[in-house]
Amino acid sequence: MSTTAAAVAAPTRAGFLRSRLGSILAFFPLGIWTANHLFDNLAALRGAAEWQAAVTHHDNQVAHFLTMVFVLLPLALHTAWGLKRVFTTKPNIGHYQTYANLKYIVQRLSAIGLLGFLGAHLWLAMFHPRFVEGHEEAFSDIAAHMRHHPPTLAVYVLGTLGVAYHLANGLQSLAMGWGVVTSRKALKQLEIVVYGVFFALAAMGFTAIYALFQAGNAFPVPLD
Ligand code: HEM
Repeated sequence: MSTTAAAVAAPTRAGFLRSRLGSILAFFPLGIWTANHLFDNLAALRGAAEWQAAVTHHDNQVAHFLTMVFVLLPLALHTAWGLKRVFTTKPNIGHYQTYANLKYIVQRLSAIGLLGFLGAHLWLAMFHPRFVEGHEEAFSDIAAHMRHHPPTLAVYVLGTLGVAYHLANGLQSLAMGWGVVTSRKALKQLEIVVYGVFFALAAMGFTAIYALFQAGNAFPVPLD
């Protein structure tokens, strides 16, 4: 038996399924929900009532709870899968300074950034208002923070950039990993789609941030 064959253990069936699950959940429901969430936030362009109706207010609390489980559980599973990959795979950009290797590194850096951003975002925009303050996040609150609290603005701008990159570039590695694209020509075409997805996600996110920032002018400086 060769050294390589002895050293590289074949993945177990359960390990293989876990890895496939961590990968596909990132696209559905996580990726689809994320794109839809950025789209919903464009309602900030139409004012407070429209934004709250599209983003934070839910008539049916049970349906809202189930939606959150449907999104947060896959996020937790994908995050566990992603963290394991961050710590068990090694970049080889030291040997091959290629564009693909650079994207591989940035995918992992954006993952770490997302971990921080999503933690802060979920706590400040969802759990804290609902479970500590007793109401859903108000338009006036997020708009005032965006306008008068520079760290909030910076975190949202960087977080949105990270989400757009991580999801768009992730779609490319997912399509390759699942064998959706195999030829050089298909890869080139996929790259165009990936750029399109990146710009569309970033444009939606930045437009929503800009609308909240503009609206924040009408609200007083937040105390905290
Ligand atoms: C909005 C949340 C997120 C979305 C929509 C998302 C989406 C994706 C997608 C579509 C992929 C490609 C999957 C594949 O190649 O099979 C991916 C890869 C990855 N994700 Fe996420 N992700 C999110 C959050 C996170 C978080 C919080 C982490 C961990 C800290 C993470 C870590 C990773 C890693 C390390 C990869 C690369 C895996 C590899 O190529 O080996 N992701 N993500």
